[in-house]
Amino acid sequence: MKTRITELFGIEHPIIQGGMHYVGFAEMAAAVSNAGGLGIITGLTQGTPEKLAREIERCKGMTDKPFGVNLTFLPSVTPPDYPGFVEAIVKSGVKAVETAGNNPAKWLPALKEAGIKVIHKCTSVRHSLKAEAIGCDAVSVDGFECGGHPGEDDVPNFILLPRAAEELKIPFVASGGMADGRSLVAALALGAEGMNMGTRFIATVDAPVHQNVKDALVKASELDTRLIMRPLRNTERVLTNAAVERLLTKEKEMGDKLSFGDIAAEVAGVYPKILRDGDMDAGGWSCGMVAGLIHDIPTVKELIDRIMAEADEIIARRLQGLRAA
Ligand SMILES: Cc1cc2nc3c(=O)[nH]c(=O)nc-3n(C[C@H](O)[C@H](O)[C@H](O)COP(=O)(O)O)c2cc1C
Repeated sequence: MKTRITELFGIEHPIIQGGMHYVGFAEMAAAVSNAGGLGIITGLTQGTPEKLAREIERCKGMTDKPFGVNLTFLPSVTPPDYPGFVEAIVKSGVKAVETAGNNPAKWLPALKEAGIKVIHKCTSVRHSLKAEAIGCDAVSVDGFECGGHPGEDDVPNFILLPRAAEELKIPFVASGGMADGRSLVAALALGAEGMNMGTRFIATVDAPVHQNVKDALVKASELDTRLIMRPLRNTERVLTNAAVERLLTKEKEMGDKLSFGDIAAEVAGVYPKILRDGDMDAGGWSCGMVAGLIHDIPTVKELIDRIMAEADEIIARRLQGLRAA
């Protein structure tokens, strides 16, 4: 399939794997890129620019297809070494960067000068327009159903995507709730040029996470995510578990008085415990409502091939058939 997104990134299928903390290692990115999508290494998970540079080299050893790096700009008292991360990316020769969190304007000149295509993840039309105005090449439009940080506007993709299509000139992919060929065709129908998946890629053979995490996704339904940290205006959609329920009770009891310190035990440093060690009650970890559509653990290649075959079937038979009727 050819869209403005496949053209922009030089990929075969319009499917991107969004950056995921403690999931987006070289194995994940390479598997997606080898299957014809755009795999993304999560920069901050590596901790330092030097380690990120090594991870990028490791990924180059696993694929000769294009892959990218995610740089998430977090609100933080002691920010990560962003200049160092940007330098490591530029020097590595990687040609795609997914930015997320704060406005990436400060880093765009260095990235663009190196010929890097930048796709910024946004949860609203106004942020998408800002990304376009500052010179991003594409946007990943992340609806309210997404795993991770959906922002504070709560607009689901059935509204957000066509709104983005009404306003944006640069291409965008649909992100949040995407799982299969139906998602891809719907995303295209709503004006997107492809789709970005997070949660669905975790339940694959290739995802470098503990088996407990994959099994939990197969078991979970669309009712099993919760929104945490809303009182702190840092909302995150996570899979429910004992720690998440404890956190939500604290949020309810403390109301306006809640500060990050009150919930640190349930959210700080929990990713390796869950995703690497499989301790499923260790704390809150990002997970989309799309868990309800995850029923198996295929390889990434099987998943992507299936998505493309299903999309083709829907377009060529189901939709075409309706048209003729
Ligand atoms: C476990 C997990 C970790 C994530 N970590 C990040 C991250 O570090 N940076 C980022 O920009 N997005 C992160 N995301 C969001 C994804 O890149 C993607 O936008 C989101 O998962 C899309 O929604 P979906 O899960 O419904 O597919 C994460 C998502 C998950 C599920």
